[in-house]
Amino acid sequence: MERRELLRLLASAGALPLLAPLAPSAALATLAHAAGTDDWQAQFEAASAPWKIGFATPAGDLPLARATVRGRFPDAVAGTLFRIGPAGHDLGGERYHHWFDGDGMVHRFVIDGADVRHQGRYVATPKRMAEVKAGRHLVEAFGTLPAGAEPPTSADSINVANISVLPLQGELLALWEGGSATRIDAHTLETLGVKTWRADLAGMPFSAHPKVDPDGAVWNFGVGASQGLLALYEIAPEGTLRRAAVVPVADMPMVHDFAVTERHLVFLMPPLVYDGKRKEAGASFLDAYVWRPELGMRALVIDKKDWARRYTLELPAGFLFHVGNAWEEETPRGTLIHVDYVRSDNADSVFTTNREVMRARRVRGADPHLAVATLNLGTGRATQAAVAQEAEFPRIDPRRVGLRHRQVVHATQIRPDLPGFGAVARTDVETGRSQRFSYGTQAIVEEHVFVPDGAKPGWVLGTVLDFGRQKTVLSCFAADHLGAGPVAQATLPYALPLGLHGAFVPA
Ligand SMILES: [Fe+2]
Repeated sequence: MERRELLRLLASAGALPLLAPLAPSAALATLAHAAGTDDWQAQFEAASAPWKIGFATPAGDLPLARATVRGRFPDAVAGTLFRIGPAGHDLGGERYHHWFDGDGMVHRFVIDGADVRHQGRYVATPKRMAEVKAGRHLVEAFGTLPAGAEPPTSADSINVANISVLPLQGELLALWEGGSATRIDAHTLETLGVKTWRADLAGMPFSAHPKVDPDGAVWNFGVGASQGLLALYEIAPEGTLRRAAVVPVADMPMVHDFAVTERHLVFLMPPLVYDGKRKEAGASFLDAYVWRPELGMRALVIDKKDWARRYTLELPAGFLFHVGNAWEEETPRGTLIHVDYVRSDNADSVFTTNREVMRARRVRGADPHLAVATLNLGTGRATQAAVAQEAEFPRIDPRRVGLRHRQVVHATQIRPDLPGFGAVARTDVETGRSQRFSYGTQAIVEEHVFVPDGAKPGWVLGTVLDFGRQKTVLSCFAADHLGAGPVAQATLPYALPLGLHGAFVPA
């Protein structure tokens, strides 16, 4: 099939991520009506869990507010930390059944020494605009079939722009993974509309974890699960599309993140496979996915210059959301690619843990840990080693993307009675040595990013929900003295809903 034909196929299908059949089915309608008796909102409101504030819905946008600052934020972190996450978790008394369903709210933390200000704004997606106007959920979401919901007419008709952000040429892109990126004004957080890279790519899936090479080139992908297609994008540093194409992938699984090396794109593919028959029978998009450990975890490696040159290797079955980084080296045994990622034994976290928090229940899944896989492109063999650190939200020095790195900043410290993590850590993936700072028993850690500072060790910057005080706190640490605690902290006058990813842009 011609490349253009494949592209057209993917786009005309609505570029559905996750989406397969567009026609409503009788079973779906039955389920949707049954959902009319759903009491998740009442369960959430009745729950006594003190951390549930992290999953509450802000009534509206949050105007610019000044934080209370202790210490002084270093010059290198003067700038803006953008963050995003699901925030609109309920509407008209109906609550979503999955953390990933909520309408995205984008945040900016404007940092200047001892002055920190915060603003939050819902992304004005077509879905949010229509539903707020109607006062109820109108279309189905990733993990929820709201009462009376219509099936989506396209991927962007259910785009909630709630996973990550990409600063690009002065603008901010709010990223989902099933459809288009959404353009955001970086100064006002106003929603400017969907990003169309090229007319024939309108509505194509554009995933939430693009990778930026040290030279500024941006690589990304999109998954057409029901079509068994993987879309690839190469974007020039000035923000224009260089290339896009789709490649067919058998048993196309849920792929949330990937990695780049100097010469390759690296996809780790957990055996969480979309089953269109389940969708047709009335399942949510999430429940149309099936855990098939017998497939193992495939590593798909694609030559950056020639997307027809592909290698598939096999690792033991496991699940991941996030990759830290990958790098490659030439050896007498062939080209070796080293990739570190956050591995779980299964996908319980997506099916259960991140679902039950929506009614304020803590259900522990398979604990995620750092792992390092080595892919030998010469022999086609892949090996893997665990790094004994509980982890999520891995981030590295942005100057080392695709290059040899050692330090990964990540959340750590799983607690039996609380969702998420209690500490931030910096781990050497070659030695396993790690230092951490624990925020204590009343805190849930969000993603922390590494901020470079010339030739100096740099800084770690991130937010935490202090549910004891019902406030969100931004902290900055010296990267080489993480265990010593923050050098500066900014406490907002309110708590934000727990978010997903962010990006720092220097002033
Ligand atoms: Fe993510």
